[in-house]
Formats: sequence, C-alpha cells, structure tokens
Amino acid sequence: MNASSPSPAQNQATTTTLYGGVTNRRVTVRDLATAKQRGERWAMLTAYDALTAGVFDEAGIPVLLVGDSAGNCHLGYETTVPVTMDQMVMLSAAVVRGTKRAMIVADLPFGSYQESPAQAMHNAARLMKEAGVGAVKLEGGERSARSIELLVEAGVPVMAHIGLTPQSVHALGGYPVQGRGDEAAHQLLRDAKAVQQAGAFSVVLEAVPAELAAQVTEQLAIPTVGIGGGPDTDAQVLVWTDMAGMTAGRVPKFVKQYADLRAVLGGAARAYAEDVRTGAFPAAEHSFH
Ligand code: KIV
Repeated sequence: MNASSPSPAQNQATTTTLYGGVTNRRVTVRDLATAKQRGERWAMLTAYDALTAGVFDEAGIPVLLVGDSAGNCHLGYETTVPVTMDQMVMLSAAVVRGTKRAMIVADLPFGSYQESPAQAMHNAARLMKEAGVGAVKLEGGERSARSIELLVEAGVPVMAHIGLTPQSVHALGGYPVQGRGDEAAHQLLRDAKAVQQAGAFSVVLEAVPAELAAQVTEQLAIPTVGIGGGPDTDAQVLVWTDMAGMTAGRVPKFVKQYADLRAVLGGAARAYAEDVRTGAFPAAEHSFH
C-alpha cells in the first residue's frame, strides 16, 4: 500500500455510508442520499425517550423518528391527534440527549403546520432550536408542498409522509390501505413527485401496495421509507413498541416482532414482586451495613 492508497479503514468509510460507516458524527441527509445512489438499504425506528433511543443508537440504527405515534405508543392516547408541540419538543429533546450518531427526525403533530407555511416554519424551528433535532417530518403530498418548500428554503431538512397519514384518521374512518385503484395510485405518484419537487430529502410511504411503493421508489431520486409498503422501498421504518413486542393486543399486518419485551418485562416485574412478598429480596448482597 503506498501513501496515496486508502487504508482499510478509509476503504470501509468510502464503501459503507450508514451501518458502521458513520461513527464519530451524526448521520446527515447527504449520507442518506449517498445510500440511495449506492442501493444501500437502511432501517429507521421510532423512539420517544433517551434510554430506548440510546439502545437503538448503539445498535447502529441510522435514523430515529420521534413520531407522533408517541400519542398511542407512549402517552396513552387512542390516536396521534391529541399530541401537542410541547409534548413533541420534550420527547424529541430526550431522544437527542440519549443519542450520539443517529439522525433525529421529529414529527410535526396534528394542527402544528396545516394552517400555513409560516405556522409550519414556526413549529419546525421550535423542534430544531429547543429539542435539537436534525430534521422534521410532516404528513401530506401535494397539499403540504408549499410548507415543505418554505422549510427547505429556510434550511430545515424535511421528511414527507404520504399514503396512509394517521393524523387524518377521523377523515379516513380508520387506517385503510391507500393507493388502491388507478386514480388513487396516480394521486400517490403525484404526491411523491410533489414532495420531492418541494425539496423533501426523503418520503415515508405508509400502507400502500408493494407494487406501487416499488414504482414510486424507482421514479424518485430521494429515498423512500416504507411502513407497510413491501420490500422494495429504500428504507423501512417500524414503531419500536411494535417491533420489540411491547404493544398490547394486535399489531398491524406489516409488523414483524423481533422480541417479546412485554412478556420479558412483565415476567421481571412479577418475579420482583414475588421476591419482595417472600422476603427473598433484598438479600445480604443488596444491603449496606
Ligand atoms: O409517528 C410515527 O411513528 C410515524 C411512522 C409510522 C412513520 O409517522
């Protein structure tokens, strides 16, 4: 190896942009653009607190989403609709504090951006200044394009979210699969192109037929992030409580559970309570003298 040829470590850094390749700084929108060019797939998870976010950061998850799914998955609401800006700022700041390397994207919650691009800018700035996130996410395609444009012009990286948009749960009458039928599929393509044109660095495709998600992914230059969008998107996102088996009851069809944390945690709590009841805890090694 001569002085000008790259060392194995440099080689690694140039061949791997995300997993293991970004170690001493946060992942950026440029890393994600490079990953798309290289066909490198990546995973995104939601996080709502510093402790859990730290675990995912150490595990090498390159992008963490402080989703407004915090409403149903963390704060005990039935939908994402009641989530407020103050709650998003508090949760996002905790996730930023708990991580070193992941890009942190925070959701603009329902009612925090739909009024006008100026309202979107005001609240995106809060998430960046008060919580320290690196990007924001908002729902809507063509209908949100003007807001995305203003945010991007102002230097805010924006992840868009189209297909099933959970903030519209009451208008949709539930959480139906989107993009079925010719007209709906064309609208989804128009939405995807509109957010790309407006400057979004990435777009979430939720609950759309796999074939349509593949078509959108092929036609866009920015990375697509699928959730219920089949295997051919550039990235995948799951709500962490679904992924790790913390969610009570049924999870959506598109979820794969990688652990049964609810059973593990419940078992630990029951064992602890039983030890306290019988006097087995605390033992001598847990006591000061
Ligand atoms: O809020 C959220 O968790 C989301 C994901 C489902 C993409 O928007």
